[in-house]
Amino acid sequence: MDTPNFYIRKISGSRTWPIRHRVMYPEMSPESVILPQDREGIHFGLFLPDDRLIAVISLFEGENGHYQFRKFATESAEQGKGYGTALLTYIIDLCRCRNATRLWCNARISASAFYSRYGFTKTDITFSKDGHDFVIMERMF
Ligand SMILES: CC(C)(COP(=O)(O)OP(=O)(O)OC[C@H]1O[C@@H](n2cnc3c(N)ncnc32)[C@H](O)[C@@H]1OP(=O)(O)O)[C@@H](O)C(=O)NCCC(=O)NCCS
Repeated sequence: MDTPNFYIRKISGSRTWPIRHRVMYPEMSPESVILPQDREGIHFGLFLPDDRLIAVISLFEGENGHYQFRKFATESAEQGKGYGTALLTYIIDLCRCRNATRLWCNARISASAFYSRYGFTKTDITFSKDGHDFVIMERMF
């Protein structure tokens, strides 16, 4: 059997901050990627076999089985190799195990095609923030 070339595990919120900053908001201050809600979130990291953290995602439980994921990012040099897919499908499976009814995100328009591949559909809600255009996307269970 092939040895998997990565592993995913829970991490602290603070371990997500450097990748969030480097990949998503390099033009802003490092502190700007810290969410007040990070204390309540569950954070996951994808690691290479050498224990290098290369992708992160944060999951937040709301009411009525609704979950939101935020700040999903893969290091630029490692994008397009399937790591984002692995992390996102891990979160989807976790939500299913937790009897989630809905998983949603504020999707950058630039990433909306990516999410469509994994069963997310666009809602009518769009907005702009920090120089990026967003659409709320959701996946029902
Ligand atoms: C979105 C993101 C997390 C995806 O991670 P990744 O590790 O590159 O994902 P994968 O390698 O699993 O990509 C799977 C497929 O989706 C494609 N894809 C990746 N990002 C995409 C995007 N923004 N739009 C459309 N397709 C995309 C890849 O090319 C790949 O296609 P292929 O299977 O035909 O080769 C990563 O591109 C990223 O960090 N982007 C910058 C930050 C960002 O926009 N985060 C999302 C905010 S809502």
